[in-house]
Amino acid sequence: MVPIVVFASGRGSNFDSIQRAIEEKKLNARILAVISDKKDALVLSKAEKAGIVSLHVAAPVSSTQSVLERRMAHEKKILEEIQKLKPQFLVLAGYMRILTSEFINEFRSEKGYVRIVNIHPSLLPSFPGTDAYAQAFRYGAKVSGVTVHFVEPKVDSGPICAQEVFSIEDCHTVGEVEKRGLEIEHRLYPQTLSWVLTEKFEIERRSEGRFYVRQN
Ligand code: GRF
Repeated sequence: MVPIVVFASGRGSNFDSIQRAIEEKKLNARILAVISDKKDALVLSKAEKAGIVSLHVAAPVSSTQSVLERRMAHEKKILEEIQKLKPQFLVLAGYMRILTSEFINEFRSEKGYVRIVNIHPSLLPSFPGTDAYAQAFRYGAKVSGVTVHFVEPKVDSGPICAQEVFSIEDCHTVGEVEKRGLEIEHRLYPQTLSWVLTEKFEIERRSEGRFYVRQN
């Protein structure tokens, strides 16, 4: 079982889907802890209920420090927790903070990729950043999507593990887009993690310097 730590800031529906996949033996992993930057995040109470260590690691609020200094101080506290737990992978599931390159590089494998995975609610590289389903809807896009990718220092970049597209032409609200997207997320994330966490893939460097993740 691959030991993982899940990072999340909110409701935790992706945490639920990962936890369910583990229980149903579709995903050979063990969640050592759930870490959240938000004290009242629903995901923490969900983890506690499931008997999983749930940790709230608050970000410092000092006004004398720069954003970067605060970010690094926060990550230092997180790293202290992680070093005790020794996970093989970090799984981001709705974690709403930007990670520094220093933190990310702590998890870089000897093969070059970073052992941190993220799910983003768009067809990257379209609509990076927050509220991606809303961004696609408000833009008038005909399709939206879901991307599972390795984390790299540039936000919402990194080699793509899996993507799925869905039509939003007949959606009248952002809520409808999100509902459709989340259904895909809850299937795609555990499914993708099942081969990513066991490192059954190759990352090929193809023309123009792009990276291509190929499942073995
Ligand atoms: C999901 O849409 C995920 O793709 C994005 O944030 C949302 C988190 O939802 N990164 P939940 O907390 O897993 O329910």
